Amino acid sequence: MMTVDTSIAPTESATRPLVVCAIAGSLRRASYNRALLRAAQELAPDGMEIRIFDLIDVPLYNEDVEAQGDPEPVRALKAAIGQADALLIATPEYNHGVPGVLKNAVDWASRPPRGAVLAGKPTAIFGASPGVTGTARAQTQLRASFVFTQTPALLSPEILVYRAHEKFDAEGRLTDEKTREFVARLLRELADWTRLLQARNQ
Ligand code: FNR
Repeated sequence: MMTVDTSIAPTESATRPLVVCAIAGSLRRASYNRALLRAAQELAPDGMEIRIFDLIDVPLYNEDVEAQGDPEPVRALKAAIGQADALLIATPEYNHGVPGVLKNAVDWASRPPRGAVLAGKPTAIFGASPGVTGTARAQTQLRASFVFTQTPALLSPEILVYRAHEKFDAEGRLTDEKTREFVARLLRELADWTRLLQARNQ
């Protein structure tokens, strides 16, 4: 009789593609941060599918509106995050902080306080700006919010795409080789770490 040792059989989560919900904190058509997400799609490791979710239709958070039921774009946002294995956020920096558009999305996705889609979702953060600090302060602020939402955020590599105007071409393609290598590494780390967390939670 043939027996199968299930202890070494690959688990379902280790064999199916890893779905990543990718969000840019900018609505600008030529956004460097959206362009960063497109680069991530090109550089994703085998077995990772990156789906970009656009925040353009997400209304401002209002507890009164929420009490009547989430508006459709909010339901779509929560579904996109909820169905994904992991989250990838490209944040711009506005006035040394997280842009309102992105913080607003985090606020919606942090609700309800128990059972929110952000809770426990493995997340990688990166960001691009034309300035020399490359969104360092915005990324730190986002990590602080993720303490409250209990969203585990990958620690490294930290990717601060500074002087972004020198790293993308006129079509918005990430051309800087070093940055491309860092993005590829970030995605590999996100994949390994997400699978590790999934195996632990099985
Ligand atoms: C900025 N910008 C900016 N950049 C930065 O490095 N630190 C900052 O604090 C700010 N502050 C800031 C405030 C506001 C209101 C705007 C509109 C812009 C510049 C910002 O990094 C630049 O516009 C980026 O191109 C925005 O990201 P996207 O849209 O290219 O993804």
